[in-house]
Formats: sequence, C-alpha cells, structure tokens
Amino acid sequence: MITTIVLFSVVVFVALASIAIPDPCATIGGQKWVSPQDLRACYTSFAVDPSIKENIVDVINKTLAFHTSVNYEIAAPEPFTEFVHEDLLKDLARISSQSYPSDYDLHLDVSRTLKRLNDGHCVWINSCYVPLFLNFLPIPLVLLTDSDGTQSVHIAPEAFAVTSAEFLDEIDVWQEALPPAIPLQTVSSSVYTSFDYSNFLQLDGAQVTHHCVNCVSSERSKCKYARTLGTRLGGRATSESGMVLSITLTRSLVKVFKIGGCCWNFMTVSLRGAAETVVSLRSTPLVPRIGRQFLARYDAESVKLTVAGLILARHRRILAFYRHGMLQGLINLKSLGATQLIVDVSNNGGGFICAAEFLHRIIIGPKNTTVPQAGLDTETRDGPLARLIVQQIIQNDLDPSQALLYNPLNWNNASNVAFAADNDWLLPPVDLTINGHADAFSQRLGQECQPNGFTIMPPDEGLFPASNVVIVSNGRCASSCSLFSITMVKEEGVKTVVLGGRSDVQQAYCGTVGGQSTVFSEIDTETAKLKNNSLAPPDMMVNGVQGITWRLGFGIQDPTQPEEWQPHLATLNLLLTPDLVNNPVAIWTNITEQLLTGRS
Ligand SMILES: *[C@@H]1O[C@H](CO)[C@@H](O)[C@H](O)[C@H]1NC(C)=O
Ligand SMILES: *[C@@H]1O[C@H](CO)[C@@H](O)[C@H](O)[C@H]1NC(C)=O
Ligand SMILES: *[C@@H]1O[C@H](CO)[C@@H](O)[C@H](O)[C@H]1NC(C)=O
Ligand SMILES: *[C@@H]1O[C@H](CO)[C@@H](O)[C@H](O)[C@H]1NC(C)=O
Ligand SMILES: *[C@@H]1O[C@H](CO)[C@@H](O)[C@H](O)[C@H]1NC(C)=O
Repeated sequence: MITTIVLFSVVVFVALASIAIPDPCATIGGQKWVSPQDLRACYTSFAVDPSIKENIVDVINKTLAFHTSVNYEIAAPEPFTEFVHEDLLKDLARISSQSYPSDYDLHLDVSRTLKRLNDGHCVWINSCYVPLFLNFLPIPLVLLTDSDGTQSVHIAPEAFAVTSAEFLDEIDVWQEALPPAIPLQTVSSSVYTSFDYSNFLQLDGAQVTHHCVNCVSSERSKCKYARTLGTRLGGRATSESGMVLSITLTRSLVKVFKIGGCCWNFMTVSLRGAAETVVSLRSTPLVPRIGRQFLARYDAESVKLTVAGLILARHRRILAFYRHGMLQGLINLKSLGATQLIVDVSNNGGGFICAAEFLHRIIIGPKNTTVPQAGLDTETRDGPLARLIVQQIIQNDLDPSQALLYNPLNWNNASNVAFAADNDWLLPPVDLTINGHADAFSQRLGQECQPNGFTIMPPDEGLFPASNVVIVSNGRCASSCSLFSITMVKEEGVKTVVLGGRSDVQQAYCGTVGGQSTVFSEIDTETAKLKNNSLAPPDMMVNGVQGITWRLGFGIQDPTQPEEWQPHLATLNLLLTPDLVNNPVAIWTNITEQLLTGRS
C-alpha cells in the first residue's frame, strides 16, 4: 500500500516538473549496501513496457510446453496437493490481462507465480532485478529443543560471531538499527518465545508454506513438505531483492522488537562487492571433505549447473574432476580405517546427474540397481514442436557434435540400448490425461551415464555396505542430490536423517527431484531452425532465465508414476539441541550412536 502511494506521487511529479524529480536510482548507485526500501524505490520507478510484458509472457508460455510437469502441477498427487496446485496457463492469462503499477510489480507476480509450484527447476529470473543484489539476513534462525522437549525459535548461537567475522564493516549498521538497549551480540543467543510464522514467511516472497519452513532463505522452493527450520545468512535466491522485509520476534523477557520494516532493515548487498564473502559463507562446514567439490555445489547457480548434465562433450573434464575427487576421497577415508560413512548433503541443490549416479555406484558396488542404471529412468514431454525438432535433426543431420538435447544419439531406450541416429524417438507418443488435461510424453528412457558419462572406471567392489551408510541433511537437498538420496534409500535401504525439524512432523529427506533441468536459452537453441513456427518461443527481449524440468524421473516404488510425487520420509528427525546446533562432529557422533554401530 505504502509503495503504491509513493509511486503515485512520483508519477505526479513527473507530470508537473520533470526536471526537478530526483532519480530514485541515484540513491543506490555505486553502493555496496543499500536498504530494501531504497532498492525498491529504484526498482519500482520503471513503468511496464507493454511489448516487453507480452514478450516475457510469450517466452514463458512457449517454454513451458517443454516443462514435463505443467499438468501434474495443477494438482499434484497426495500428499503433495496442498503444496503444489498451480495452473500456470491460467496464471499467464491472468498476468497478460492484468495491469501493474511498475515493471518490478509485474516481475514479482511472474516470479512468485512460478515459485508457487514449489519446483526448484521451474523458476523465472529477470536478471534486470534478481542478480543485482542479494538480501542478507544477519540473524539466521534455528528451532532448538530444550531438555523437556519444548521447541522454540532462536537466532543461531553463532550468528553474531559469523556475521562479525564476515561482515565486519557492516556490524555498526545493524547495531544502530536496533534499540540502544539491545546489543546485537545479545540478540544472537536469545530465545524467542513467540514467533510469527506468517510474517517470517514473507522473507521468501510467499514461495513457501508453513509446512515447508526450511525453504526459507533456501534455494528456490526445493523442499516439499519437510517442516524444519533453519535460515541461511545470504544467497541470491533468498527472496526477491528489494522486498521490504520484517520479522517480529518476542523475547522471553517480554521485550518485543521488530526486525526489518521500521526498525531494522535486512540489508541488501551488492553482489559485486561481496561475492567472495558470500561464497565462503556458502561453504557450510556440514559438507564432509570427501567429494566436497561435488557436494558443496548448490544454491543460486543450481539452475544453470543442472542444465544438460548430459551433454558430455562439453562437460567431460569437469565431470572427471568431480568423479576423481569423490572416489579418491572415499578410498582415502577407507585407508584411514573408516568402515561407516555419513554423507551430509545439507544445502545441496544438485548438480550433474552422472555425478550423483557415480557416487551411488562407487559406494554400493556393481549390482542390478547400479549397473547399468544407477539413477532413474525418465521421460520427456512430447509436444508437436519437440517432434519437429527431432525430425529436423534426423533429416538434415543438424547436430554432428551431439550437442542438442533432442539428438537421438544422446539417449537410450528403456532397455538401455542406444537410439540410432535416425530413430524418431518421440514417436509414437505416450498419451496420458493428467488432471483432466490431455498430455503426451516420450517413451521411457533408460540410463545414459555408463560407461562414458562416468569418465573414470568405478571399482569392482562397493566401498561401504549400505547398512553402514547414513545420509544426513537439513531437508534442503534437491535435483541430483534427490536422485542420489532416493536411489540410495529406496534401492539400497540406506537410512536418512533430517536435522532441525519440528518434533511433531515427519520430515522429508529431499525436495524437488526432476530428472534433468534446462532453461529457455537451450530450448531457443533447439528451436533455432523452427523460429517461424508459431509454437516456438520468440527471442527474449530482456536478460532473463526461465527454467524447466526437461526430463522427469520415474518412481522406484511405483515405476509407472513420477518419483517427484512419491514419499521421501526420513528415518530420523534429529531435533537440534544447543549442543548439536552448528556442531557437525556432535551431530555425526549422535547419528553414529543412533543409526550405525555406535562406534564412530
Ligand atoms: C499460451 O499458449 C497457449 C497455447 O499453448 C495459448 O492457448 C494461450 O493463449 C497462451 N497464453 C498466453 C497468455 O499467451
Ligand atoms: C536384482 O537382484 C535381486 C537379487 O539380488 C533380485 O531380487 C531382483 O529381482 C533383481 N531386480 C531386477 C530388476 O533384476
Ligand atoms: C530397445 O532397442 C532395442 C534395439 O532396437 C530393442 O530390441 C528393444 O526392444 C528396445 N527396448 C524397448 C523397451 O523399446
Ligand atoms: C521465416 O520466414 C521468413 C519470412 O516469412 C523467411 O524469409 C525465412 O526464410 C523463414 N525462416 C525459416 C528458418 O524458415
Ligand atoms: C542425540 O540427540 C538427541 C537430541 O536431538 C538427544 O535426545 C539424544 O540423547 C542424543 N543421542 C545420543 C546417543 O547422543
């Protein structure tokens, strides 16, 4: 409401005296730290350009024809229905006909509409806004359990130490924003008895539900229905930058103060100035040294990183590096006498599909769940334009370097036999009716990682028996992290632990599964020779990214349905106590005693 009034007055000024108005963006120009209000004033100062709006809606609409899950997401199967029920085509029609006070308001609507899918692969990023700043939350929150089992919200005990180490030059700004009687340092260790979840959820721009609080400050909506709590300090994807944010926390000593809004702004930091610091914060100590390069890859880049994990020609060298690191790390661990393995995948938003399958294969060894397929069989959407792409590749030998997603040479059929160069693999389609809508999918695709996608030979024997392996996370595990966890749990019987959840809710050990994601620019390349077709997305007029799930994995327990909407319930909901929070060694020791043999 306030924003609308401010904006209106700016418009009036323009009409009366255009020379006199201050440029609302001058305030933030060249600044490392700016307040969300100032950023928002700048962002909302641009009017909607109708032709750009039409272009954005058109690009998204036509790119979504390649997203496997559009019809499923109208109402996902139980128990996911409550969290996933979005009719995107209706939404786009609504957005088309709606008017917006500014281009930024249009952007927020498009972005939040896609976030309501709770599908971390299918998001809209307008790079005119999103990557320019990130919201920084100096007070990550955790749910701690006391000795009588009561759970309450705390600011993470180490918050002050971490914030002052990483952002020394900004500590004064936050201190000055607090009432003088409350030193920032004491805020860190306080207990907050009353906690307004609905307010808190605004942090992520309405992308989460109260059932999914561990998504807050996380990658874009990657978890589905775990109810853990734990926020991260920063991250490009935490919320739309420039949102005016506020949380009200009530301290146990009846002291009420408000963070954000009027009293304490969540600072917004320019990426340019702080990129290195933020990267170092992301290297969470919860990631074990083994395979760190692989396991530590998460966060805002994941949309790009998961793109076409398959296009081996481009990625083989990077893949070889990860493979080598994972295998050598585990071999070293064993040579030091390790007999049990805890794989901590907290905050792992995914990466390369074949890297996930390689890790599964080397831990477990060769058996019928790891050779040749150590992942999930998949399907693509089989629309009319996709079929034309395949036909063009075949007829005109368009893709000798095998760089295109639709090239038959990149895929195997469900018996894991490679398609011939002239195999029109999208015919015949598998016709389905999903939520009352006719849809069409490709035949079932088998594995594509072995042997070439592994790049190095896995050993002939498994490294650890499945009963000696536990996978741990804070619930924020998605994409290839989900693929790894799901196959390890459902095929090998590996146990899982979720940290920091509510005691009364069964936790899920992973979120978005997908299979393989891609983005508009890749679809644009695939349709390069079909630009005249009215179904082809046009060139995008803004610098933006629309992500999609391009291949969807089939389930393990119900192989006829997508794994995406099958249960992923953790073995153990490890409640965080003051002893355990942010203490990986204590957490791993506890897990060893509860789920492994008891010997660390
Ligand atoms: C989206 O595309 C469909 C065709 O697939 C079309 O019927 C619909 O009008 C388009 N929506 C918008 C908002 O352009
Ligand atoms: C895999 O092997 C196990 C026994 O080791 C067998 O019970 C199972 O049916 C096999 N599965 C397939 C798909 O061949
Ligand atoms: C895969 O292709 C091979 C060779 O063409 C064929 O024999 C087999 O039946 C195919 N499998 C499936 C599931 O289509
Ligand atoms: C697209 O249409 C234009 C004009 O109708 C034509 O000049 C052009 O060659 C066409 N391009 C393709 C790739 O068919
Ligand atoms: C593990 O931590 C929980 C708190 O979440 C505690 O109740 C339990 O006693 C611990 N178990 C061991 C074996 O340390």
